[in-house]
Amino acid sequence: DGPKPLAGKKAVVTSGPTHEPIDPVRFIANRSSGKQGHAIAAELARAGADVTLVSGPVTLPNPAGVRVVQVETAQEMLAAVQGQLPADIAVCAAAVADWRVLHRADQKLKKTGDGVIPALQFAENPDILATISTAGPNRPSLVVGFAAETENVVDHARAKRDRKGCDWILANNVGPETGTFGGDNNEIHLIGGSDPARDEIWPRQSKTAVARSLVARITRHFNS
Ligand code: PMT
Repeated sequence: DGPKPLAGKKAVVTSGPTHEPIDPVRFIANRSSGKQGHAIAAELARAGADVTLVSGPVTLPNPAGVRVVQVETAQEMLAAVQGQLPADIAVCAAAVADWRVLHRADQKLKKTGDGVIPALQFAENPDILATISTAGPNRPSLVVGFAAETENVVDHARAKRDRKGCDWILANNVGPETGTFGGDNNEIHLIGGSDPARDEIWPRQSKTAVARSLVARITRHFNS
């Protein structure tokens, strides 16, 4: 079933949103569907890699030939990813919540009847991409992140790559008019280094085609 240029390589992919609980029945989430991350996991597996997909709550079927670890929160996602190291390739496509609710209630929050409205306090979540990019001897040799931006997409993405320490960052515009969150298509600006002349701009295409382009790029990286 096709060539296996990534045979022998171990990959870990994050996908989907995280859910950050407020109480037993409520949570904070975002509009990620998992389509982009799941497509990347599927294509890596088709290219012969040994793939673990660490996924937040999504309604998609598990991709063929991929080990799937289901998680809910950012903290669980980090632990699951760290449990897969060492690995050769990491691709962080998940839309991880930057903050979690500081004091999750054990019981459902109730209306008090006196008009007092609860105020949520937040704590910062661990940054999975930054953590694995600086994982010392356990750092995957190729770490790929995404940058979800709504303005100054390329500048913000380049700064994010530097700040988080990943090798490549795939910038995508997630403004509401683009349909990137949840939709079937995506337009990527790949930043692979500090020299903008080496950036790649991929046309708007299906998320499956984005995944194929990325896996072709990864294959070239390991074979050049
Ligand atoms: O799931 P879909 O509906 O298919 O949509 C795809 C997508 C828009 C979610 C995807 O293409 C995408 O852009 N994923 C990254 C979403 C995101 O949260 O980006 P960010 O710019 O906030 O984060 C930058 C990078 O750091 C990302 O690789 C993210 O996975 C990672 N991160 C962020 C925060 C955190 N606490 N831990 C992380 O690992």
